[in-house]
Amino acid sequence: MLKPNMHYTELKDSYLFNTIYRKTAEYQKAHPEAKIYRMGVGDVSRPLCQTVIQALHQAVEDQASMRNFHGYMPESGAPELRRAVSEYYKRFGVHLGADEVFVSSGACDDLGDILELFDQDNTVLVIEPAYPEYVDTNILAGRKVLHLETGADNGFLPLPPADRKADIIYLCSPNNPTGAAYDREQLKAWVDYANGQGAVILFDAAYEVFIEDPAIPHSIFEIEGAKTCAIEICSLSKTAGFTGTRLGYTVVPRLLERMGVNFNTMWARNRETRTNGVSYILQKGAAAVFTPEGLEQIQRNIAVYKENARVLMAAFDRVGIWYCGGKNSPYIWLKCPEGMGGWEFFDYLLNEIQVVGIPGEGFGECGKGYFRFSAFGDPDDTKEAADRLCKLLR
Ligand code: MLT
Repeated sequence: MLKPNMHYTELKDSYLFNTIYRKTAEYQKAHPEAKIYRMGVGDVSRPLCQTVIQALHQAVEDQASMRNFHGYMPESGAPELRRAVSEYYKRFGVHLGADEVFVSSGACDDLGDILELFDQDNTVLVIEPAYPEYVDTNILAGRKVLHLETGADNGFLPLPPADRKADIIYLCSPNNPTGAAYDREQLKAWVDYANGQGAVILFDAAYEVFIEDPAIPHSIFEIEGAKTCAIEICSLSKTAGFTGTRLGYTVVPRLLERMGVNFNTMWARNRETRTNGVSYILQKGAAAVFTPEGLEQIQRNIAVYKENARVLMAAFDRVGIWYCGGKNSPYIWLKCPEGMGGWEFFDYLLNEIQVVGIPGEGFGECGKGYFRFSAFGDPDDTKEAADRLCKLLR
């Protein structure tokens, strides 16, 4: 008899971000006149930059012409784009071969797909609070997940636990949801821990572009020893506003091997079977991000989001609410006032001032009593939301 994947029954009924969308839509339906200030799901609000738009238009023209038309793209990405990404890493002092960079349709896709490189019996370590996909994808694969709980006492930046062993370790820095970011020394401790026990770190670098503090690495490969223990997953979603356009990249170093099996070779083989590549048009748009003009233009949108973060942080400073993040990150992670739970605070803000954030418990048990705001909203909406928060929480 056919057996479905029964691990689906172990998941929560609804994925966190869908629950937020659903609850917001229900409120809007009941209050059609209300304007809602969306600081919840980290979706960008600024359009793509001009250089990218021009490259996308040009690529559409290419597809309309007999001479320049492109069919299937190489599964692991167009060589020019792989080269452009490897060049980009040089600004962090990281030297990668273009064949160590794999183009994807987004970090979310690769965070799930990359698990095909690992045996089902491997144990997974997730630092909580965490982006929910890390846990869900491993539950579905039937892996054992160890939760490393964090809190304000260690700045939501735990060091490797001496009492726990894991095969696959998730690190996200700057972190989603807490906005906390590891410095070099702290990341070195994780790299040494992983190399010491033969583990592999899956490093989620989706928010690297928000780093302003030189003590914070943009890539785990800035750390000595990382090429023998880490895979880095990144995306243009937050960097260049590609949430609706979709393109990411994953770095799998050639030096990464376990039991004589090479992960770079495995991933290249995986891509051959599992994908026909990302569309020519999108890869052309993505390559434009890495040109000097593209890199300059994306910073203008990042500056807008950083200003939004400053506006929100100033509001929390005024009303005396504890928070972290917001400086090297688009997320601000705060303590709910008056001992409220995250979902209670969510309902309170939506009902009283029509501001939406994300309850900390959506990112795991130890997020309880915390709340996340995103700085990716419209600047006027962010200012209005900050004013409303100040008035309500004063
Ligand atoms: C978030 O709100 O955490 C992000 O939008 C998640 C994502 O990028 O998928």
